[in-house]
Amino acid sequence: MSPDIHRDIHRMRREFPERRIDYYPTIDSTMHAAAACPVGTVVIAEEQTAGIGRHGHSWHSEAGRGIYCSMVLEPAPVLTLALGLAVADAIASTAGVTCDLRWPNDVMLGGKKVAGILVQLVDGRAIAGIGINVNQDAFPEELAGTATSLKAYTGRNACATDLLIALVRAVDVFAREEKDNVLRLFAHASSYAAGRRVTVDLPDGVIVGTTAGLDSSGFLIVRRDDGSDTVVLAGGVRAAGT
Ligand code: BTN
Repeated sequence: MSPDIHRDIHRMRREFPERRIDYYPTIDSTMHAAAACPVGTVVIAEEQTAGIGRHGHSWHSEAGRGIYCSMVLEPAPVLTLALGLAVADAIASTAGVTCDLRWPNDVMLGGKKVAGILVQLVDGRAIAGIGINVNQDAFPEELAGTATSLKAYTGRNACATDLLIALVRAVDVFAREEKDNVLRLFAHASSYAAGRRVTVDLPDGVIVGTTAGLDSSGFLIVRRDDGSDTVVLAGGVRAAGT
């Protein structure tokens, strides 16, 4: 994919002539570059040497195999859920596969993670970091059981530039969507939103229960076997038994 994005960054800029699109062959993290940019900017890298994941994890950012992108957005309610919908929409329209969304916004194919999203608030702007595993053939041993790529799942190479263009368009649409619409679309798209047996890692311990929908702020309600509800405010949700 390396020559693909590199060659086609001009195509990206033609598609979005009003937009600032910064491209780095290599960078520590697109999150750092985007933090200094105005709303509307898209920062894209071919490779990240210190990609940042959620919960203090790193993000595997092999050169030329994935999409590593940060978009600078206006903050919005349930933005984090809207971004998951946008990534799933872009993948569906370009690769023809339907992703599941593991609350709040892990994008899943065949039970493995194909894309991850990190939102950081910086000086009143939302920096939306999106990593999509596109054409990886293999992952490091510690990720092999939990990560997949579009190529690994479909058996076909995917065009990263087509996917990036669809992604920017989809983020523009979903990030502006009304909160209630986002909640409704997420509940429809995610097998984790309701009726799913899950394990949740919380700061004060682990709980097991069945998901029981989203509250009005987009937080996940997990019903324990004693009937009590826990509202989960941050990630750490996985299918029970995994
Ligand atoms: C997650 O842990 O699920 C979130 C992963 C977010 C990775 C992306 S890749 C582009 C942007 N730059 C980073 O360093 N992280 C995000």
